[in-house]
Amino acid sequence: MSSPTPFDFFAPCPRGLEAALAAELAEIAERVPSQAGAPGFEAGAQVPGGVHFRGGWTVGMAANLHSRIASRVLLKIAERPYRNEQDIYALAAEQQWERWFSANETLRVDLTAIKSPLRSLEFATLRVKDAVCDRLRSVSGARPSVDTAQPDVRIFAFLTATVCTLYLDTSGEPLFKRGWRLDKGAAPLRENLAAGILRITGWVPGSPLYDPMCGSGTFIAEAAQIALGVAPGVERRFGFEKLKQYDVSAWQAMKVAALDAKRAASANKSTLPIFGSDISGDMLEKARANLARAGVPGLWLKQLDARAIVPPSEQPGIIVANPPYGERIAVRGRGPRGEVREPRHGGREPAAEAFSRAQPDAADSEFFRAFGDALKQRFAGWRAFVLTADRSLPGQMRLRESAKTPLFNGALECRLFRFDLVAGSVKSRPGQTEQDADAQ
Ligand SMILES: C[S@@+](CC[C@H](N)C(=O)[O-])C[C@H]1O[C@@H](n2cnc3c(N)ncnc32)[C@H](O)[C@@H]1O
Repeated sequence: MSSPTPFDFFAPCPRGLEAALAAELAEIAERVPSQAGAPGFEAGAQVPGGVHFRGGWTVGMAANLHSRIASRVLLKIAERPYRNEQDIYALAAEQQWERWFSANETLRVDLTAIKSPLRSLEFATLRVKDAVCDRLRSVSGARPSVDTAQPDVRIFAFLTATVCTLYLDTSGEPLFKRGWRLDKGAAPLRENLAAGILRITGWVPGSPLYDPMCGSGTFIAEAAQIALGVAPGVERRFGFEKLKQYDVSAWQAMKVAALDAKRAASANKSTLPIFGSDISGDMLEKARANLARAGVPGLWLKQLDARAIVPPSEQPGIIVANPPYGERIAVRGRGPRGEVREPRHGGREPAAEAFSRAQPDAADSEFFRAFGDALKQRFAGWRAFVLTADRSLPGQMRLRESAKTPLFNGALECRLFRFDLVAGSVKSRPGQTEQDADAQ
């Protein structure tokens, strides 16, 4: 049931996407009508790695179902200054956890800290877990069991140097697990990072979007779901469904509407101007299966080397890609003299036929130079966004970026480079030959 008192929520997200998430949450709140008498959405502070907001249950449930950028939606339970583990235990033991779940539910506690003076964060985590279990035993006579793999209930503790905050998770599995990507490549992009990047590109449904290294199809699946109004969480369950207090009837109405929208989208023969290509036929098979599960079948998918691409639509649009890089996956195709490039370490990664290695090599540079040439020569009027951990990429592509946004792909610090491919105005980089500049 909805409470008249608003809840405080915190939505973590990949670092660099805080502003994009705040804008998305405000849009979601506008779309989802708040229940009569229930608190509406109130925007809160953006902090590194997440966004605070307030609202009733409807707001929290809608954020879970509709946010593409949040990693989770956490409900704030308590916050207080602390000096030691005993203070943390006392804070956790005072909370009425029994309002939310019983000892029959399994539990997991996670703790993260920034500049905490505590010597052992593992010990602090154990103290939170003990406090919650002791509390439930004192009120119900039974302790919940711990299940770190598939808990019913997750509690997150966050420590700064002086303050401890306790959160109850309302999401369960992280929200980037949409439930449609069963087929992955060697280096798939997290769905929420892909969705955040789409927002940064300024792409709007109806204008062309092309991923020429689409892999398992993350960018194009997210874009097609956005275009067709398919909710990112329509295929999955959420942590709040295991809690004692949530607005079941409002949730059922929201879920039915989301399922109806997905059915309508699947029935719609797609003519969306959303395009994907990849050099690997295996990856395209995976992308096809993923798109069907995501409720957006029938997109344009082609097996192409990114060096040979041509615009898939007459109207210019947005190119978005995360090319193979360094530690994760290598460029494939033919080398500068037409030779087929094979894994150097002999070890084929079973599904993706990709291989890991530490450093880019000359052939990779040749690939990026040729990819840059393809963009310059054939994509005038388009804007390209390339996510990479390699800061020398614009130089390798012989393009000067118009903007770069720092983003984290997991722990890997990346840049999203933007290249405006305006005919005749792509700036050359120092060291280019006249012929190179002519090619622009
Ligand atoms: C980092 S992955 C992209 C992952 C993708 N964004 C996803 O979410 O699954 C890089 C992709 O580039 C593709 N690739 C490698 N060399 C290529 C080339 N020469 N032309 C086109 N695609 C290539 C790989 O097959 C792989 O799917």
